[in-house]
Order: sequence, then C-alpha cells, then structure tokens
Amino acid sequence: MPQTVKGVISRAKGADVEVVDVVVPDPGPGEAVVAIKTCGVCHTDLHYREGGINDDYPFLLGHEAAGTVEAVGEGVTEVAPGDFVILNWRAVCGQCRACAKGKPWYCFDTHNAKQKMTLTDGTELTPALGIGAFIEKTLVAAGQCTKVPEADAAAVGLLGCGVMAGFGAAVNTGGVTRGDSVAVIGCGGVGNAAVAGAQVAGATTIIAVDIDDRKLEQARHFGATHTVNSATTDPVEAIRGLTGGNGADVVVEAVGRPETYEQAFYARDLAGTVVLVGVPTPDKQVTLPMIEIFGRGGALKSSWYGDCLPSRDFPMLVELYKQGRFDLDAFVTERIGLGDIEAAFDKMHAGEVLRSVVEL
Ligand code: APR
Ligand code: ZN
Ligand code: ZN
Repeated sequence: MPQTVKGVISRAKGADVEVVDVVVPDPGPGEAVVAIKTCGVCHTDLHYREGGINDDYPFLLGHEAAGTVEAVGEGVTEVAPGDFVILNWRAVCGQCRACAKGKPWYCFDTHNAKQKMTLTDGTELTPALGIGAFIEKTLVAAGQCTKVPEADAAAVGLLGCGVMAGFGAAVNTGGVTRGDSVAVIGCGGVGNAAVAGAQVAGATTIIAVDIDDRKLEQARHFGATHTVNSATTDPVEAIRGLTGGNGADVVVEAVGRPETYEQAFYARDLAGTVVLVGVPTPDKQVTLPMIEIFGRGGALKSSWYGDCLPSRDFPMLVELYKQGRFDLDAFVTERIGLGDIEAAFDKMHAGEVLRSVVEL
C-alpha cells in the first residue's frame, strides 16, 4: 500500500519551501523505502529551490540522510528491513565503462528509484539528487542505501554528502598521505571535512584558509596546524611562507570561485595537486598562463562527491567516528524540525552553521 507522509517541497523558483503530504509507493524491483531519521541541510537544496540546478519543479528536497530500511522490493539483496543505512546519491551501476575499468567511484551511469513519489493530486516530484530526504519515508534505489554500524544518525548522516565530499577530496582525490603539506581554501562543512581528512591521513602541515575567523577556529578543531584569513592576508604568500617557500603538496579548493581556484593553483608546490571540490556556477571562468600549467607540473583534479565509494568509505568513516578519530559531532551545529528549513537556509547563507540537521 502506498503511504502518505510529511515531506518538504520546493514548488516554484524562489518560493519558500512547504511541508506537504507526499505519497510514497511501495518499493518495486531494486528499490527500498527508508524511514528517515535525520537529514542535513546542504547548499544544493537551496540551489534547487532557486532554480540553479534545473526547472523540474516541484522538488522534494534533502539528500544528506541516515535512516532505517523499512521495506525492500523484489531482487534486493544488499540491504534488508531494519538495516541502519546512510543514503548516497551515486549508486554505482557496475557495468558502465568506468565501472568496467575498475574505477566505480567514477561510475557514469549511477541510478535512482524508477517509481516516482507524488503529491496527493498525483503531481510527480523530483527528488533532490535522486534522494529527497526531508520526509518521514523516502523511496530510493537499493544501491543508494549503505549499511553502516549503529551510531548517532545526525552525525553519521552527514557522510551522505558534504562531509564525504570534503574528506574524499583530500584523501581520495588528492591522495594526501603521511608527511604531506595540505592547504584547504574555504572551511565550511566541506572544507573542514577536508582538513579532518588530511589529519586522519597523516598530513603534518594543514593550512586552513577562509575569510571568516569563526570558520578558522573550527578548522583548528578539525586538525589545522595553521590558519590564514585571506580577507586580510595574501593566502598564496602565506601558504608558501608556511611550507619553506615552496607551496603545499595538495591544495583543496572548497569554495567554487575563480579567485580561490587561482589561489589554489599558485599555492601548491611543483608537481603538487590542486583539487576542486567547490561547485562553481555555470558562468564562472578562469584564465591561467599555459606556461604555468606546464611548468608547475603535477595535477589539476576535480572531485565528484569526494571520489567516494559508499560501500567502502561510509562504514570505514563511521568506525573512525566511533573510535573518536573523526569528530562528526562537531559538524552538527543545530538539530531542527521539518518546519525549520527556511530558517536553516538563512543561517547557512550568513555562515552561522556548519550543518543544520533535520531530525524526524
Ligand atoms: N576565500 C576563502 N574562503 C571563502 C571565500 C573566499 N573568497 N568565499 C567564501 N569562503 C568561505 C566561507 O567563509 C565559508 O566558510 O568558504 C566557505 C564555504 O562554506 P559553506 O558556505 O559552508 O559551504 P560548504 O557546504 O562547505 O560547500 C562548499 O563545496 O560542495 C560544494 O556546493 C558546495 O560550492 C560549495 C562548496
Ligand atoms: Zn549536498
Ligand atoms: Zn557504472
């Protein structure tokens, strides 16, 4: 029997989000219904509301979530009712050319539930990033559920998006290893997770750069050895100064702007790596001298979702959290209800939170 539950939608461009009744079908083949426990508020939800992703309104927002599998459809073997799971928005197919090459974290054919959740009048909803988790129960592809050890859902659910993206940008994409010098430009939820990742991986110099002193203070907590306020100090000079005049081995850009990307480009050592995990808007352009791109060597990389493999990375990161080696609690600034999402967008905009987390 389809169920009717409360969920948060964005009905039209720029309009405030609304709590409404949503009809959730029973899971079909390869699908699962998950009772959501928590869902973090991410920039991408706001981008959907503002029409920055596409025009397929109404959107069912929310995608950074943990919950309990309630029911599974035919042929589902990877999860079962009662499993505690974190949802991911890149369920790998196992068959595309990336998967065939043994690089499933690049999967070019990730999938979502085939059936649609709807309003009570039958209007089909577009779930944010193929999830839609500001809702009591959601329908996803079973491959979007990763079983993890029991833990505080508000904390570990953040691995479903921003925190995984930042951690993976440093560790998976940047390949940070022991003894490395790392700089992270932009220390919101994503950048601070990159700082934490660099620390877990054994980097010995971790330089946090932001224009907001509050974020720099938090970066210290996550493992930054040095901080630079780039509103008042030239970050390229500062990073070079802190690395023997050379620049950092790995620089993570977690803002998504041309000026910060250029800073990252010039702040790395010869043969170093720049990782872009901040998501630029489509109008942004960078201009770089080609001789510098050649002469500096190394790699300019992008990080999709931290180049993560949920089945490999989520359980491992939950273990590190449970062992006290990765402080996911410190990303949870506040716990809110389904009706508080507009206020959470305002706080995000004002830089007051790392993450607001909706509890259901
Ligand atoms: N230089 C340095 N830091 C900056 C600058 C700048 N010019 N402009 C903004 N920042 C800082 C902000 O002060 C803030 O701390 O970047 C940080 C951005 O953090 P959040 O707004 O919390 O965003 P976050 O969730 O961390 O995401 C960062 O990654 O996944 C993408 O879409 C996401 O593009 C966004 C980026
Ligand atoms: Zn997100
Ligand atoms: Zn694939």
